[in-house]
Amino acid sequence: INIVFLGPPGAGKGTQSAKLVEDFNIVQISTGDILRNAVKTGSELGKLAKKYMDEGKLVPDDVIIGIVKARLQQDDCKNGFILDGFPRTIPQAEALDEMLKNDLNIELTHIISLNVPDELILERLTGRRSCPQCGAAYHIKYNPPKEDNKCDLCGADLIQRDDDKEETINKRLKVYHEQTEQLKEYYSKTNKFYEIDGTLNPDEVYRKIKELLQ
Ligand code: AP5
Ligand code: ZN
Repeated sequence: INIVFLGPPGAGKGTQSAKLVEDFNIVQISTGDILRNAVKTGSELGKLAKKYMDEGKLVPDDVIIGIVKARLQQDDCKNGFILDGFPRTIPQAEALDEMLKNDLNIELTHIISLNVPDELILERLTGRRSCPQCGAAYHIKYNPPKEDNKCDLCGADLIQRDDDKEETINKRLKVYHEQTEQLKEYYSKTNKFYEIDGTLNPDEVYRKIKELLQ
């Protein structure tokens, strides 16, 4: 299975990807995680990306497309992958189609849109706590860690992402509606496009995703 997850910031793409990685032995390719790691290590990519991320804007297409292309060529993608946070623009989607066809000779199997209205996003993202070490996401109310503010998986202290401030969340939502939401129409022309109600609780959402995959 080769999945693309679409959906606004905070829709639950990362949360659902983590479950799929465990159950299906496929890899998660989160462009957001790749960029946050680059920011953490202070690489050239990180320096460039930080400016955009802090403002809730998209990193330029050519940069992101290069990253994903290199990542998809690695051997561990052969068992299947989840693209979480990519593509986010029409040019990114076109570049993905092209690289899958011409460079990799594989096809997407499911494009899944997690639909969550804007009203719910603010609470989800202001209450999110993220693991800086392994990328796991928690929520103070909906998915609290077992031990206060510590990652269940690796024990690291949880943090609040820099872009999970109310002002930046609103900008990210605006960018989603202006640049990313139209991908639903782009993919609805394939027979692999599915929409899921992302307002249900995480286990219910996961059950619906598994139904699609089986
Ligand atoms: P990225 O890291 O991709 O952020 P995002 O798309 O805004 O998505 P999030 O990680 O915020 O949300 P999510 O859907 O994964 O939700 P989660 O599962 O954590 O991108 C960050 C930045 O990087 C961008 O702004 C951009 O600058 C740059 N970037 C990345 N990719 C790019 C690209 N392709 N092109 C250009 N720039 C790019 O859940 C959220 C919270 O809700 C958590 O607290 C969780 O516990 C909780 N939750 C999850 N599911 C549920 C549920 N069903 N019910 C209740 N709570 C839930
Ligand atoms: Zn962790």
